[in-house]
Amino acid sequence: MKKTYKYNFCIKFPFYKNQRISKNKTHIYKNLYFISLVLKNMYLCYMKKVLFVCLGNICRSPMAETIMRKLVTEAKMEQDVIVDSAGLISYHEGEEADSRMRMHARRHGYEITHISRPVQEKDFYIFDYIVAMDDSNYDRLTDMAPGLEEEKKVVRMTDYRKSTIADHVPDPYYGGHEGFENVIRILEDTCSGLLEEIVHS
Ligand code: 4NP
Repeated sequence: MKKTYKYNFCIKFPFYKNQRISKNKTHIYKNLYFISLVLKNMYLCYMKKVLFVCLGNICRSPMAETIMRKLVTEAKMEQDVIVDSAGLISYHEGEEADSRMRMHARRHGYEITHISRPVQEKDFYIFDYIVAMDDSNYDRLTDMAPGLEEEKKVVRMTDYRKSTIADHVPDPYYGGHEGFENVIRILEDTCSGLLEEIVHS
């Protein structure tokens, strides 16, 4: 009996009726939001995700990330490739890139905006390419990989060299200005090679 009364009340008062309608709409919006999340995640799966890794994440890997992002933008592939970088130590976590690296980057037309962060286990599941700058980075990353499939994602930056003869990206942190210029030279060549590999994969 109580139920019938409530129902009648609802029919009689349009304001209450409207509330019911708007509740239904909320339901529709919630479903649409859910569907958009599913589609977004499906799209993210299709995108290639690249994580550049060095020791401190304040010199080489943020430089690689910035160069790669510029190449991706120039190739109009922003919808196809995601780039990020991380470090093997958390000592510089939360810091901007090294001021010398940023200064040399600017000379070549790059603006590094990355904030240092350490590599996490979940990165091995998220990213398709985990790109080490040198052999020491490579060994530490393969040791960190949670499984064989994830270990296979670890590659060396210089695996993608086109014209450079370098077999690693040397750490410029304790050296002079030439070291930073050398990093940019090697990374421009190898990031271009990596993007070609992604296009053809
Ligand atoms: P990165 O350079 O690995 O290219 O970022 C370094 C930055 C910091 C340190 C070493 C290397 N450090 O010892 O703090």
